[in-house]
Amino acid sequence: MVKKDSKWRQAVIYQIYPWTFHEDTGRTPQKGIGSLKGVIEKLPYVRNELGADAVWLSPFYTSPMKDAGYDISNYRDVHEDLGDLKDFKDLVQAAHDIGLKVMVDFVPNHTSDQHEWFQKSRNKQDDYDDWYIWHPGKKDDKGNRIPPNNWPSVFSIPNRRARERGEMPNLKKGDWTPAISAWQWDDSRGEYYLRTFSKEQPDLNWSNPMVREAMKENMRFWIDIGVDGFRFDAVNWIGKNMSFEDEQINTAYNEDQFENPYDQYLKFNSCNYPELLHQYVWEICEVLRDERYEDRDLRIIMEAHLGESDLRQLNDVAPDVAAAFNFGAMKLRWGVMERKIQIDYYYQNLSDKAIGNQVNGNHDTSRLATRHGDVIARTAAVMNLFLPGMRFIYNGEELGLHDANVPYDRMRDHENGYRDGERTPIIWNDHEKNAGFSKADDDKLWLPVNRDDFGISLFRQYTDPKSSFSLYRIAIKLCRDLPAVQRGKYDPLRTDNIEVFAFERRDGDEKVVIAVNFDSHAQHSVITTDFTQGKVALSSIDVDQNLQNVNLADGLHLRPNEALVILSAE
Ligand code: NOJ
Repeated sequence: MVKKDSKWRQAVIYQIYPWTFHEDTGRTPQKGIGSLKGVIEKLPYVRNELGADAVWLSPFYTSPMKDAGYDISNYRDVHEDLGDLKDFKDLVQAAHDIGLKVMVDFVPNHTSDQHEWFQKSRNKQDDYDDWYIWHPGKKDDKGNRIPPNNWPSVFSIPNRRARERGEMPNLKKGDWTPAISAWQWDDSRGEYYLRTFSKEQPDLNWSNPMVREAMKENMRFWIDIGVDGFRFDAVNWIGKNMSFEDEQINTAYNEDQFENPYDQYLKFNSCNYPELLHQYVWEICEVLRDERYEDRDLRIIMEAHLGESDLRQLNDVAPDVAAAFNFGAMKLRWGVMERKIQIDYYYQNLSDKAIGNQVNGNHDTSRLATRHGDVIARTAAVMNLFLPGMRFIYNGEELGLHDANVPYDRMRDHENGYRDGERTPIIWNDHEKNAGFSKADDDKLWLPVNRDDFGISLFRQYTDPKSSFSLYRIAIKLCRDLPAVQRGKYDPLRTDNIEVFAFERRDGDEKVVIAVNFDSHAQHSVITTDFTQGKVALSSIDVDQNLQNVNLADGLHLRPNEALVILSAE
């Protein structure tokens, strides 16, 4: 069971992308890269100014950085550019001292090809022979060696770009751009290895119990240091069909609508293979249930790209300690029906034992304000913050930062998906060098600072009561102060206007209604619940907290794309 008083229940979790968050001011010379000490300097901001309950740190481990640290070469140490293990321990201590929990990214599906396990496996050394997924491949009609099956690499976007640059002249108009194979030939072993992501990220063989045990030991290492939870990366890939059947073609694929040739295939074998996936997830979740951690409040959040019903099954595997990310808000367009159906389905199907979650953005997705525009970004924020469960905020989202246009020669991610735009440094202020991120020269910065966002620096927003930052700060505080939001479940409400979505949270007599106008025009809507007299506690547009009286039965007036939080006044 989830601990009754678990702090994760209605926690706000702030995702920190360590490479571009903040470089500690004391580091000389400045490297132009964020640091763990830099994170420590900003923890009071995260806790005391914004009001978050936990931080999730994206990978900070030793890594050759072929995929921004998601290619780990040592699971038990810190990348030297970010600091060292002592800094990490200091960070945990500093976070705990001010009441912040610490969640760390954990990458179970693959390691770096520089990891000692892979080096040994490649040479069939010791017992490491089948720690990764090796295959001799097949022969085509002409006797040429070809990969064992059609499994595609997630990182197939570079093929699309190559074609756009005219590098695939043999393809006719209307032909699909081929995906990159997930199989990589290795000369030294004379076999293919599976690499679902980049060629420097070989997939671990989870059907090998020694691999599972080693990964569990790595988890214990961090729990023993003091971390409070893990974000499991790409977990749905650890369960695959080990008889390597081909994937079927996705007939819905269409080059205009799907950017990634990876989506030409349905995924039933190369990942999402329930028999194995559920077993492995259950097994790693057992680590948290160990008696020795009985007095800890530990939690796992899983990144899994699955359809809603598969996701529901995964959520049922170990609801007391783990849930999958709910990517509904991130993946769906801003439309009232899509969102309402998804949210209703999500909460209806979440076990009572589980903790749900809401996510508006992360380091793999165009920033919220870029996807939806500045106004809707605020509406979406209020909506997510008032829904039950863990609420994730990607660093900079609270400021309404936008994707940067990163020039090709400054990109870090041109091999893997072009995700640099959403990863540029946080705009702390507009009077210090590099917006307060680092004092290094601009050309040394890990990614350049987005000058277009200088006008919305934290410094500028801090004293503006209507700013995006003020909205987040006040909304988070309101959520914390209202028992109905802390404890109440999700109850969808009836409205008489198709553009207006409303739901309620309640605890005893305390009732809170959230009404959201999805339309870009003002709307009027009656909201049906068992009270009529309310007071407006928050508006997404101007953070208005004037406690103005409203009558739900007469109907609410909602400005274009406005979200209102209304407290019962009866
Ligand atoms: C998901 C991570 O969020 C992404 O950044 C990474 O590239 C892949 N998993 C592979 O680890």
